[in-house]
Amino acid sequence: MEQYIIKGGQPLVGEVEIGGAKNAALAILAAAIMTDETVKIENLPDVNDINVLLDAISGIGASVNRIDRHTVKINGKGVSDFSIEYDYIKKIRASYYLLGALLGKYKHAEVALPGGCNIGSRPIDQHLKGFRALGADVDIEYGKIIAETERLMGKHIYFDVVSVGATINVMMAAAMADGMTIMENVAKEPHVVDVANFLNSMGANIRGAGTDVIKIRGVHKLHGTEYSVIPDQIEAGTFMFAAAATKGDVTVLNVIPKHLEATVAKLVEMGCEVEEFDDAVRVVSKGDLVSTQVKTLPYPGFPTDMQPQIGVTLALSKGTSIITESIFENRFKYLDELARMGANVKVEGNSATIEGVKAFSGARVSAPDLRAGAALCIAGLATDGITIVDDIVYIQRGYERFEEKLRSIGGLIELVETEKEIQKFKLKVG
Ligand code: EPZ
Repeated sequence: MEQYIIKGGQPLVGEVEIGGAKNAALAILAAAIMTDETVKIENLPDVNDINVLLDAISGIGASVNRIDRHTVKINGKGVSDFSIEYDYIKKIRASYYLLGALLGKYKHAEVALPGGCNIGSRPIDQHLKGFRALGADVDIEYGKIIAETERLMGKHIYFDVVSVGATINVMMAAAMADGMTIMENVAKEPHVVDVANFLNSMGANIRGAGTDVIKIRGVHKLHGTEYSVIPDQIEAGTFMFAAAATKGDVTVLNVIPKHLEATVAKLVEMGCEVEEFDDAVRVVSKGDLVSTQVKTLPYPGFPTDMQPQIGVTLALSKGTSIITESIFENRFKYLDELARMGANVKVEGNSATIEGVKAFSGARVSAPDLRAGAALCIAGLATDGITIVDDIVYIQRGYERFEEKLRSIGGLIELVETEKEIQKFKLKVG
C-alpha cells in the first residue's frame, strides 16, 4: 500500500506551477462527446480521476487520443453505447456528467446511480429534476438511471439547491434542447463558467454562466473545438495554505487570482502577507497565525474543498476558530486524524471549534478523502517529526505529482511502499 512519509518542521519556500482544474476538466471531457467532430483539450491535470473518465468515454465508443499527459483529442462520432457501467461510476462519480452529454446529443442515457462518498450522501435529485423539466423520462431501475425522450424542450428551471454538478449536467442537456432554457439558483463556480465557455466554443449558445441565472438557446449540432482548461483554484489554495501552515513563502504560478479571493481573504485575516500578480499569487507567513471564523459556501464564498486545508492551518493558529461546513454533512473526519497529531478540536454537527496549539506531533494518519488527505500532508509538513499518511490513493485522484511539487518547494516528503523505504527515508532525513 503506497503511503506518504513526511519529515516536517521547515518552511516551504519557492514557486509551484498549478495544473488544470480537475472539476472543470471532468465535465469538459464528458461534453466533448456531444459533437461528431474532433475536440482537442489542453491543460488537463494528469490525475487518476481524469484517466478513469477517459477510459469510460472510450468504453462507450468515442475515440480518445492522448497527445501527452495534459492534452487529449476526443471524437464522439463512434459513440454507440449510451450506458455507463457501475464500475466507472464507483471509481469516479463525475462519470454522471455523461448523463447530460448523452441525453443532450442522443436523447438517451443510462448511467449507474452514484453512491454517497466519504463526505456525505450526495444525492442527485436536482440533476434528475432538470432532465425531467427538459422533457426526459427519467427512471431508476436496478441502480441505473435511464433518461430518454424524443425531444428535449427548453424550460424555466429553478434549482432547489445550489449544485455544481446539477448546474453543469442540466446545462449540457439544455445546450441541445429545442428552444430557450432559463436556469435559476445555479452554481457560479469558475468550473461552471469554464464548461459553459467550452460548450460555446463548440457552437452552443449559453449566457450568464457565473451569475445566478443561466440562459441557454438550444442548438441542434455542436462542432469541434480546441480548448484549454482553467487553472485549478483548489490545487492553488492547497499550496497557499501549506505555505501558511509551515511559516513559508510560496508563489503559486499559472492561477487566476480572481478565483482565489475567498482563500486570500482568509489567509490575510489569519496574518499572512499576500501579493497578487496577473497569473500568480505569493503567500508569506512570518509571525504567529491568528484564529478566525469560516463558513463554507457556494462560490464566491469560501470553498468547501478548501475546508480541511484551512482547518489544519487554524489548528496551529493562536486562539479559538470556528468552522461551519454548510455544503456537505460529513466533511470533518480529518479532524479525528488531526487530534491524533495533537490538535485540540471539537465537532458538533456541522461546526468545528478549533483551539490553536503551538505544534503537532508526528503520527501515522489516514486520508479520509481527497482534500482531507492533502490537508493531513500539510499538517505533517508543519510538524517537526515524522508523519506517515495512509490511503493516499485519494490524494492521487485529484493532485498531480503532489509529493514532487511539495519537494520542489523544500518539503521532505516521499511516496513509500515498504518498511525498508520508510527506514531509508528516516536515515536520510536524520
Ligand atoms: C462538486 O461536487 C465537486 N466535484 C466537489 O469537489 C465540490 O466539493 C462540490 O462541487 C461543491 O463545490 C466535482 O466537481 C467533480 P454539489 P458536486 O452538487 O457537484 C447537494 C473535490 O474535492 N445536492 O455542488 O457533487 C449535495 O448533497 C470534490 O474535488 C443535492 O442535494 O457538489 C451537497 O450538499 C469533493 N442534490 C450540495 O448540494 C443534488 O442533486 C452541493 O453539492 C446535487 C447536490
